[in-house]
Order: sequence, then structure tokens, then C-alpha cells
Amino acid sequence: MINVGIIGAGRIGQVHAKSILSGVPQAHILAIADPYMKPAVAEWAKASGIENVYTDYKKILEDERIDAVLICASTNLHAQLSLEAIAAGKHIFCEKPIDQSVEKIEEVKAALAASPKKLIYQVGFNRRYDHNYRAMRDAVAAGKIGEVQYVRVSSRDPEPPPAEYAAVSGGIFMDMMIHDLDMVRYLSGQEVVELYAQGACLIDPAIGEAGDVDTATVTLKLSNGALATIDGSRKAVYGYDQRGEVFGSKGCVVNANDSNSNIVISTVDGVTAEKPLWFFLERYMGSYQAEVREFIDCIIQGKEPRVGIEDGLVSIKLALACSKSLREDRPVRVDEL
Ligand SMILES: NC(=O)c1ccc[n+]([C@@H]2O[C@H](COP(=O)([O-])OP(=O)(O)OC[C@H]3O[C@@H](n4cnc5c(N)ncnc54)[C@H](O)[C@@H]3O)[C@@H](O)[C@H]2O)c1
Repeated sequence: MINVGIIGAGRIGQVHAKSILSGVPQAHILAIADPYMKPAVAEWAKASGIENVYTDYKKILEDERIDAVLICASTNLHAQLSLEAIAAGKHIFCEKPIDQSVEKIEEVKAALAASPKKLIYQVGFNRRYDHNYRAMRDAVAAGKIGEVQYVRVSSRDPEPPPAEYAAVSGGIFMDMMIHDLDMVRYLSGQEVVELYAQGACLIDPAIGEAGDVDTATVTLKLSNGALATIDGSRKAVYGYDQRGEVFGSKGCVVNANDSNSNIVISTVDGVTAEKPLWFFLERYMGSYQAEVREFIDCIIQGKEPRVGIEDGLVSIKLALACSKSLREDRPVRVDEL
């Protein structure tokens, strides 16, 4: 049994807690900590068998019975919490992004490498564990579509976050499209060498006033010479629109949105199908459980997770390259960063 502690009991901290409680029997949540722990969450945690509910995360790091931590606190704390958890000898699952600065992630990477105990460090790119994206990746890796020539990722949220969030989250590339940047690498099996980002504020003027964009496209050149595009929007009126395609010399692989059902109703008035599931909690719940299951398996078996600190580092470089490209209105080579 692997004893875990969860640091941060907000939205994603609760998702991971529920995933473990409902489907990761090799893990036991010994504690959960949040300085702003809501009474209802504390009550729920106790009722779910989580014995220790703290306001101070240090109590988790000091507890020698705890083997691993899930870092689910606000983004600005991830790197510092990672460093402290490494010093305490805990395995780490860290939510994306690890940090908004390459230097801080490099610091975490160096601390991991210097740790006398071999520690598992997994980053929360849950889409790699989604059944659709995983099947696409497997088809590409098996050579079914031949040499990759083009990747397309469409990523549209159903509603924008509050503008204050846009200001502190690092912006659309760092907070939202970082998943899509990771998807291009994951689906193609290639690295990004150059990209060109464009953006506009078409949905909420307050997001523009906070210094961000709410609509963006990125064109990317990959290491095998293939091309990719990502289109991102903070608001699709019909729900969470997450689709992708990999096109190659032998064919293409495409994934569609998940819906409540696959039914299509055809009448004299037209043909209708279900809307996509509403947002990431509905669409990706299975992937959240699968990623935590892999984290625990990696600890038990001493193997590397499929998404480690290097992926966390590269994705931040790509997000920073997007921001630089948008700011300077020019293509940016990733090795400029
Ligand atoms: N992988 C995904 O799909 C996904 C989805 C949502 C959020 N996230 C990431 O997860 C992180 C949290 O996002 P969220 O939506 O859950 O936000 P949230 O605001 O709901 O939760 C963050 C929690 O961290 C707590 N916190 C602040 N300081 C703390 C400290 N010192 N110790 C412990 N807890 C502390 C806050 O009180 C809050 O409850 C963000 O970095 C976000 O990017 C990832």
C-alpha cells in the first residue's frame, strides 16, 4: 500500500482524491492539506476515510508514513512544494504547469537528480491518459498512418475563466494550451523546433485588459519536418470541443468529442447528434484516474511515468515561445529560449 498526501484541496485536489478513493486500491490517502480548507471539504474528507485534514502542508511532508504527495495547490507554489517534497524524500505527482519559469523547473530537475533516493516525478498532463488520445498515439506509434506529415489539435473551452484568473494563470498558452502543446509532441512523437502564435481578444474584453488573449492559433514545425496547428478558444457555445488529427503518408487518424451518447436523430428537419460533454471534469474524468493509477504503479514497480519532469520543462518552453511569438509577432525557434 502506498500512503499519499494531497496538498491543495481545491478543484483538482478533490478530483484526484475522488479518483484514488474510487479506483486506485493500491493507494491510501492518509492526509489532505489546504490553508483555506472549506468546512464542507474537510467534512467530506473525514467521511471518506481521510484521517488527517490539515491547514499546513508541512505536516504531510513531515509524516514519515507518507510515501508520495500530489501537488494540487495554486500554480505559483508547485516548484517550491516540489523542492520541499524532494527534500522530504516523497514521490511527487505535480499538477501542470510545474512553474512559469524555465529556471525554477531546472532547479526542481537538479534537486531530483541529486536526491539520494530514486523518486518518481509525474506531471499532470492527463490527456495522455485519455482513451481517445491514447488510441491515436498508439496508432501513430504502430506506424498505421506512416510518416507523420501534419498534426491538428482543436481545443475550445465552453466558458472563459474570470479575467482576474487570466492575469495570474500565465495566460492562455501557459494555463490552457499547454495541454495542446504537449498533445502535439505526444501524438506525433516529434519535438517542436519552431512556432508562430497569433492571438485576439474576441470573447471577453476584460481578458484583453488583463493582458491576455482568448482566441489563439499556433503553427508549429516539428523535428521530422512535419507541420502542426493548434487552435484554441476560451468559449465554444456548444461545450468542450477537443478534437485532433494526425495525417501521414499512409492515412490519418482522427478523434471526435465524447458525448453522453452516440445517437444521431435524422428527421425531415435535419440530422442532430448530442453536444460534446460540458467541460474537462466531464470529458476527462477517466484520464485523471488513469494518470494517478500509473503514478502509484510507477512507485510500486520503480518505473518511469510516461510524462515526467522533462515533459513539464519542454511544455513550458513551448508556452513561453508562444507568448514571445505573439508579443514580437514573428516565428520563434524553441532553442531561442
Ligand atoms: N490537469 C488538469 O486538467 C488541471 C485542471 C485544473 C487545474 N489544474 C491545475 O491544478 C492547480 C490547481 O487548480 P484548481 O483548479 O484546483 O485551483 P483551486 O483554486 O480550485 O485550488 C487550489 C487550492 O490550492 C490551495 N492552496 C493555496 N495555497 C496552498 C498551500 N500553501 N498549501 C496547500 N494548498 C494551498 C487553495 O486554497 C485552493 O484550495 C493549478 O496549477 C492548475 O493549473 C490542472
